Amino acid sequence: MAEDIGDGAKAEQFAQPTGFAFDAVSEAEITKVVAKYPPGRQASAVIPLLYIVQEQMKRSSGSAWVPRVAMDAVAQKLEMPPMRVYEVATFYLMFNTRPIGQFHLQVCTTTPCWLRGSDAVTAACRKATGIQGWGETSADGMFTMTEVECLGACVNAPILQVDNDFYEDMDAERTEALIAALRRGERPPAGSMAGRQGSAPEGGPTTLTSLDAQPAE
Ligand code: FES
Repeated sequence: MAEDIGDGAKAEQFAQPTGFAFDAVSEAEITKVVAKYPPGRQASAVIPLLYIVQEQMKRSSGSAWVPRVAMDAVAQKLEMPPMRVYEVATFYLMFNTRPIGQFHLQVCTTTPCWLRGSDAVTAACRKATGIQGWGETSADGMFTMTEVECLGACVNAPILQVDNDFYEDMDAERTEALIAALRRGERPPAGSMAGRQGSAPEGGPTTLTSLDAQPAE
């Protein structure tokens, strides 16, 4: 059955589950999260709870997404109208309202990443996965490719986010190598793929290079 709860994406054929229950891991997380908010303000925990749902779906099905019935479970848990949960889940791009592949490739194409080569990263993702368009999943079900706006890591642009990890200073070659590693079941450490220390300049830090340095008189 085609399902679209209003995120504007192309309607696809996929099945919505008919039931959802939080597992023990999620229940423990929910207890911790809800305790951060004053009594009567538990609705403020809607975003963390949607993340908890998405992680549970990843554990149970291999696909990190938020079915509508799980949004209803969040609404019930937080004693808020389901529509208010739907509004949040469909507004934020980080919540997937339809099943995705095992790995979520999120390519930042905003100006700093574009100037630093996001077109090449996109092309490499397409070449390595066979995916042609944004929002599509590869034929083998391993990868979904999404275009995202600035991820707030422009200093190490271009960025390819895989699930929750930022891979920085990407280019075509590094992108293809990363995807090949993921296919092999490896998970390379996130961060700069150019070996950059944090967000220091390419070539290494240029300030505060010595702990012994004394301020000028
Ligand atoms: S423009 Fe890509 S991280 Fe900011």
